[in-house]
Amino acid sequence: MTRFTPIPLEGALVAITGAARGIGLATARAFHEAGAFVAIGDLDGAFSAEAAASVGTRASGHVLDVSDRASYAAFLAAAEETHGKPLDVLVNNAGIMPSAPFLEQRDDVDRTTWEINVLGPSIGMRLALPGMIQRGRGHVVNVCSLVGRYPLQGLAGYNASKFAALGLTQSVRREVRDTGVSVSAILPSAVKTELASGIDFGLVPQVEPEDVARAVVKSVRHRRCETAVPRYVGAAARAGMVTPESLMAPIRTLLHDDAPIAHVDASVRAGYLKRIGSDA
Ligand SMILES: NC(=O)c1ccc[n+]([C@@H]2O[C@H](COP(=O)([O-])OP(=O)(O)OC[C@H]3O[C@@H](n4cnc5c(N)ncnc54)[C@H](O)[C@@H]3O)[C@@H](O)[C@H]2O)c1
Repeated sequence: MTRFTPIPLEGALVAITGAARGIGLATARAFHEAGAFVAIGDLDGAFSAEAAASVGTRASGHVLDVSDRASYAAFLAAAEETHGKPLDVLVNNAGIMPSAPFLEQRDDVDRTTWEINVLGPSIGMRLALPGMIQRGRGHVVNVCSLVGRYPLQGLAGYNASKFAALGLTQSVRREVRDTGVSVSAILPSAVKTELASGIDFGLVPQVEPEDVARAVVKSVRHRRCETAVPRYVGAAARAGMVTPESLMAPIRTLLHDDAPIAHVDASVRAGYLKRIGSDA
């Protein structure tokens, strides 16, 4: 078993992308409560600063576009300068989830989704890992998704991005395994945030952002390769991958795997799709 250098959360510096709302904000709160210093990065700098003020005195807010290397580098530099310490934990959380039937989705929306959900974590790791490796201490959490194992209809580009993010995580984890630094994936089921708004997920388990936040914080201690939230859904998703399609099809139908296109309150969903620029 590979050993990773322990990171005491009291006094540690944690940078979290897309943390002005949703899972990222809950994660910022959880790390702050554990005694860490927290740097929040999000598209709107003023919104990030507001979020940081609501988290506490050891939190700072910064403007960040994870798909832009210069912006990501400036965010990490500002995080270290503001708190006067090197980065211990990076949480690649920023993400978008456009929803539409595959044949109706636009190419530019797919491109943006992949740039934010896949290239973003890749840039973040290329920027943060060298310093962590030099210090022999660090942990990266990539917030992936269970759709990276169990794809849902109406989310083709998003599913693809989360399969990719999981593959990226496993690859980099293996390459840095002997440096004391770890890379882990969190795979949440449906989470009650704006990203999932308007979709009735039916029997698919739904959790709170705080449940995911707890799993992210705990990963600093155990450093497991991947953690599903809730835990039992991870085993079910793995089993689904090795079950013949003919057996899975009725299960998928029962579980409403078409929820993102067939069980939607369009007027609620429209607000989110407009925010991420994927509305028609
Ligand atoms: N909500 C769910 O059901 C669910 C399930 C599984 C995984 N996830 C993943 O969890 C992560 C967080 O999602 P959430 O539900 O909190 O969504 P959210 O929409 O509530 O929050 C995401 C945040 O990311 C920010 N963001 C978007 N693009 C960005 C960019 N280019 N640079 C910096 N910040 C950017 C947004 O401004 C927003 O504040 C995402 O990666 C998402 O794919 C969510």
